[in-house]
Amino acid sequence: MSNIKKDFPIFTTHPDLVYLDSTATSQKPDMVIDGVAEYLRSSYANIHRGSYDISEISEKLYEDSKKIVAKHIGADSWREVIYSGNSTYALNLLAQSIWRTKLLKKWDTVIVSVVEHHANVVPWLILKEDYGINVEFVWVTDNFDIDYEDLKSKLNSSVKIVSLAHVSNTTGQVFDIAKVNYTLRAHYGNKKPLLIVDASQSVPHFSVNVSELGCDALFFTGHKVFADSWIGVLWAKEELLMKLKPIFSGGGAIGEVKQKSFTHSNKLPDKFEPGTPNLSGAVSILRAFEYLESIWGYKKLEEIEADLVEYSLEKFVKISGLTLIGSSKKKDRVGVFTFAVTWVHSFDISDYLADKNICVRAGQHCAEPFMEYVWQTHTCRMSLQIYNTREDLDLFFETLENAINDLK
Ligand code: ALA
Repeated sequence: MSNIKKDFPIFTTHPDLVYLDSTATSQKPDMVIDGVAEYLRSSYANIHRGSYDISEISEKLYEDSKKIVAKHIGADSWREVIYSGNSTYALNLLAQSIWRTKLLKKWDTVIVSVVEHHANVVPWLILKEDYGINVEFVWVTDNFDIDYEDLKSKLNSSVKIVSLAHVSNTTGQVFDIAKVNYTLRAHYGNKKPLLIVDASQSVPHFSVNVSELGCDALFFTGHKVFADSWIGVLWAKEELLMKLKPIFSGGGAIGEVKQKSFTHSNKLPDKFEPGTPNLSGAVSILRAFEYLESIWGYKKLEEIEADLVEYSLEKFVKISGLTLIGSSKKKDRVGVFTFAVTWVHSFDISDYLADKNICVRAGQHCAEPFMEYVWQTHTCRMSLQIYNTREDLDLFFETLENAINDLK
């Protein structure tokens, strides 16, 4: 077993497991599992409310968790880091709060790309359905990159928000967000639309820096980056967060409450976090980033993945009848490979692989607009993480070829 794999106890519990579905969710290292257990055993208590020791320890861990997230995404302050349930909830919170603040109004346009995960489509479609905003899709090129000509042709005075995936959960393509920012600045100058980034598939694969991207807000989810589920991150610039009227409020997020009125807290991140937060989830993110740091951080992750991506692409292109729905070049992509095989149903392939303990995902990958765009009704997706090895890939490709021969 590789040294990294040994850090993830699921592979000790199931020594034959070939886990190639990390885009759906990542496995958890001992540091996260033990870190959360230790917290629940030794210092669990509510925060912001008690002056006793374990409450203060709990509060410090919660802040440390925000601080490590802020450090890893290059945020100016941990106070700009808001916790929510996951990516989907993070964007719903942001989109509805933007509407409530009147930064969007009827007939205004939000641009997304056609490869977006539903998390970055449906919250905008809700605003379209309820209030009459426009949602415009920008197309991708044959190489699965943003079609900049199409983007430029859609930039007009009604566009108030451009909201894009940093990395597609289907094609694995990395969008150059800094270039999108530059394109917006060239067109609009200082009056440019808000640039929002869905980093759900970039933070798990490489180092992300919000100021280098030039975005106004960014979100991702903890469970794809070795932490627990139901802890998502919403980051936005302090100036924007201070301006926004939160859609949710209640205990801990208010200034004062009278019988007939209330005021929002003017403190960050409190104004966006009513009620008791997911405390053990926050500890899991803290321990997840500490784990990453303990293995030389993103450098190690990127190095392992680059090798596995190259190896996978060499193998994928040799399989006849297989269409890779994503770039076959290793540049600007991560280890997320969606494919379809002529005459063989994707669910039959994933079932065949599952019988051999090989985990992949089949279906539409929460990206139905894109599936429609590429004329696919169902596809298979194999995705990589730091614990995968060339041996995993050899087993996957051998079994995939057997599946294709046996099922066609
Ligand atoms: N969003 C997750 C995926 O892409 C569940 O599979």
